Order: sequence, then structure tokens, then C-alpha cells
Amino acid sequence: MQNFQFPYQRLVKTELSPEIQELVAAAEAVAEHAYAPYSHFKVGAALLLADGSMVTGNNHENASYPVGICAERAALSALDMNDTANKVKAIVVTYRPGQQTHNSPVAPCGMCRQAILEVQQWQQQPIAMYMYGPDGEVIFVENAAFLLPFAFGSGDFHTVK
Ligand code: THU
Repeated sequence: MQNFQFPYQRLVKTELSPEIQELVAAAEAVAEHAYAPYSHFKVGAALLLADGSMVTGNNHENASYPVGICAERAALSALDMNDTANKVKAIVVTYRPGQQTHNSPVAPCGMCRQAILEVQQWQQQPIAMYMYGPDGEVIFVENAAFLLPFAFGSGDFHTVK
């Protein structure tokens, strides 16, 4: 039998660097403006880029439920993938408080993990993930790949010419 193991940390807000606390604030702010009339679960994601700028996104739902998009992918879709020098260093995901039975961190869905890994593989540099609960609890992983073992990627197939 083989085992997957990966390191993660449980932190509290005050242990985060000022830069990551700013990223949290950006994710919290954008979560307020999520369009979530069906789930009432408003999520915000903020990406920190190498040049210090931030890109944010929130969940955007639809009456045809599967059409809705998560906050993480909304943020990723606003990234300039041609700007290869400006890599994504970190992602914070959080949600508006009081919408859950708890205020603990939530992790990205499987589809978002796949989308995050696409960017990570493209830029060839790990993306740190901060899953931030509105009460200030944080789950931190230094590499988004830890969240998706046996991931499928562009190296796994050949396109037919
Ligand atoms: N959602 C996100 O935006 N990100 C997550 O990490 C988890 C789920 C959204 C999708 C949907 O609009 C709502 O939360 C409930 O699933």
C-alpha cells in the first residue's frame, strides 16, 4: 500500500503576513458582491500576483444551476495568462459569515482545484492556498497540487494534429 501525505497548517488571521491579510480583505470585500440568489452562499477569491497586484472574483449563479461559476474560477478567468512573468503566488478563498452552520474555512470544489492546477502547471511555480473562515481560522497549503492527488494535466494526452 502507498500513501499520499501532504503538509498543511492551521493558522489564525494574526499569523498571516500583512500582504496575505490584505488578500483576505480583498476576498472578503468581493464576497459581499457575489450573485448567489439560489444558494445564498457568497464566496470571494483573491489572487496575489508576483507584481503585488490582486485579481478577485466571486461566485455568479444562474437559474440553470450548472451554469453558475465559483469564485475561484471567476477570479482565474480574469487573469492575463499571456503575462507569464506575473505569476500567481497565492489564492485566498473565503465566504460571507453567517451563511453556514459554522464559520470554518471551506476548500475549493474539485472543478476549481483542477482549474487552479492548470494555472500552476502553466506558470511552473507553486500557488499557495489560504482557505479562510470568516472567524479568522485558516487552513494553509503551500502548493495547490496537494489538494488534487492524481491530477489530470496537459502532459497526459496528445492533441491530434
Ligand atoms: N462555491 C464557490 O464559489 N467556491 C467554493 O469554493 C465552493 C462553492 C459556490 C458555488 C455556488 O455558487 C455556491 O458556492 C454553493 O455551492
